[in-house]
Amino acid sequence: MRIDLMAGATLSAAALRAAPEPTILVFDSGLGGLTVLEQVRRARPDARYVYAADDAAFPYGRLPEATLIQRVLDVIGRLIAAHRPDLVVIACNTASTLVLPALRQRFATPFVGVVPPIKPAAETSRSRLVTLLATPGTVARSYTRDLIATYAGPCAVTSVGSGNLAGYAEAEFAGLPVDDAAIGAEIAPCFVTAADGRRTDVVCLACTHYPLLLARFERLAPWPVTWIDPAPAIARRVLQLLGGRPRGARSDEGPVLGTFTGGACLTEPLRASLARRGVPSLAVDPMPPTLQ
Ligand code: DGL
Repeated sequence: MRIDLMAGATLSAAALRAAPEPTILVFDSGLGGLTVLEQVRRARPDARYVYAADDAAFPYGRLPEATLIQRVLDVIGRLIAAHRPDLVVIACNTASTLVLPALRQRFATPFVGVVPPIKPAAETSRSRLVTLLATPGTVARSYTRDLIATYAGPCAVTSVGSGNLAGYAEAEFAGLPVDDAAIGAEIAPCFVTAADGRRTDVVCLACTHYPLLLARFERLAPWPVTWIDPAPAIARRVLQLLGGRPRGARSDEGPVLGTFTGGACLTEPLRASLARRGVPSLAVDPMPPTLQ
C-alpha cells in the first residue's frame, strides 16, 4: 500500500522557521529511532510526524558501506516523495556516520543526523576511560575514528561493536523477552579496568536502539556508569533549525504515522507497543532490498 497523507510543499531551510505546522520525518532501520522521536516530539509537539523504519533491510549494522549508501538514498527518496517532510531526522548512527553527505547532495530537504556522542562523553568522564557501544558498522567507520581522534581529548576510548543488541532491542519491544545472559554478554566488553585501577565510567549509547534496553543495561552493569544518549541533543538541533513551538500552536503530542518497508515484524504485540509510544496508525510501503 502506498500512502501520501502529508502532501504539501517542501520548504527551503531558510523558510523552515516560518512553517506553522512542519512535517518531520524520523527515519531508522527499525525501531531504535523511536527513542529520538520521543525527544523531538516533546520539543515540537505541534509538528506532524512520520516515523519510517526500513525494516526490510534491518539490521543496517551488518551491511557493506556501498550497499547501505544506495539503500538509504533509495528509501529516503521514496519517503520524501510520499510525505514531503520539511525536515528529516536520520535517527540511526549506522546510517548517519556514512550517508549524510550523499543525502545532502541528492535532496534539498534539511537533514539532522545522529552520530556517536564522543565529545559529551569525554567531557563527562573522570576516569578518562570511555566506551563507545555501537553497531559493527558504526564502530568501523572512518567518520567515527575521526570523531574519536578529534573529541576524545585525554580519554582512552574502547569501541565495542555489538552484532546482536539492536535485534535484542527489537525483540523486547515486540514482547519477546531476551534473557539477561545474552544482553550481559554483549555489554561486558564495555567495562574496562586499567592497570592503575581506573575503571570505565561513561558509555556512549551510539545506536538509537540501545536506550530501549537502558534499564537492563543499568541492572546488568558490573559497576555504575553514566550512559550517554544523544537523543536530547538531536531534539535541540531540530529546535535550532525549526524554532520553538509558535504561540497558540498545539501543546499536546498528536498521533504519529508509522511506515515500514517490510512489515513482517508487525505482530499484534509490536503494534500495541507502537500505539503506546504514540504511533497508532501503520502503513507498509514494500521495498525489498536488492540482492548484492
Ligand atoms: N538504530 C541503528 C543505529 O543507530 C542501527 C541498528 C541496525 O540496523 O543495525 O545505529
